[in-house]
Amino acid sequence: MHEVIIDCDPGIDDCLALLYALKSPHLQVKAICVVCGNVPTKIGVRNVFHCLAKCNRLDIPVYVGADQPLVVDFTSAQDTHGMDGLGESQLASDVVDMPIQSETAPAFYARIFAQPTQLSVIALGPLTNIALALELNPSIGSNMQRFVSMGGAYLSHGNCSPVAEYNYWCDPHAARAVYQNLNQTIEMVGLDVTREIVFTPNLLSYCQYVQPEMGTYLARLVQFYFDFHWQQEHILGCVINDPLAVAYFIQPQLCEGFTTFVDVETQGIARGQTLVDRHHFWQKKANAKVLTKVLPDQFFIQFLSVLLDAPAS
Ligand code: BDR
Ligand code: CA
Repeated sequence: MHEVIIDCDPGIDDCLALLYALKSPHLQVKAICVVCGNVPTKIGVRNVFHCLAKCNRLDIPVYVGADQPLVVDFTSAQDTHGMDGLGESQLASDVVDMPIQSETAPAFYARIFAQPTQLSVIALGPLTNIALALELNPSIGSNMQRFVSMGGAYLSHGNCSPVAEYNYWCDPHAARAVYQNLNQTIEMVGLDVTREIVFTPNLLSYCQYVQPEMGTYLARLVQFYFDFHWQQEHILGCVINDPLAVAYFIQPQLCEGFTTFVDVETQGIARGQTLVDRHHFWQKKANAKVLTKVLPDQFFIQFLSVLLDAPAS
């Protein structure tokens, strides 16, 4: 059983990742931190409580983090995820009572990682909270077990500019600060692998057949995302980035990659681009493991068996 903190900006695929993590028998989710990204932080917090309520896990503490990037202006991804962050489904509209922790997310990280722990962090949004935590306590990275970040792209094209992935584009200075200062291998679950994870209408139909209640819920959640992907890239279905970061955390053999030095561009037309120095031009110490290959079928077997309460044999 792995103990994890999830940092997120829900977001349709964050919501799927949270449901998956909360239901997984392999994870103990100790806390959830929220950052601005797909939606403003306040909406993200409401969506986290929706996920916790759906899984009967309102006992898990929720820490509110940054409501703007370190330097650049905040740009949400509500065109992709809907104004409510859940594909205009209004699934979280009944969330009223939100017992958030009084400590901020960066302060929580700085405190909890003041000494060595068994905890890992899975970051599914911009890295603003982690960068702010590093300013408070530069040794957080050495006191965690693993740090997995959904973000970046190596050979793949970007998803919000020709070269940039949204999480790192949204707060490039935070991404850069974390890659430069975390002092812990950043397991980069970028678009090279997440683009392979397409939740198709066929898979949705399968869910509706196997588990009508969850299937109906998923249909409500992903329809907007389906439409967005079709209009944007003519993809039939939707790329669900964030659940892969959780699945890979649980089962690293789902992906292959290499260890190298990565930096992040912070400005200009390449803002948010990950510079992956695979061939050691810069002679810098490796700070990341960059994933390049994934087994999508294995992912969907794991992911759907947990979501549908139908254990894979
Ligand atoms: C990432 O950006 C967000 O839109 C998704 O939730 C995911 O974390 C993909 O680029
Ligand atoms: Ca996300």
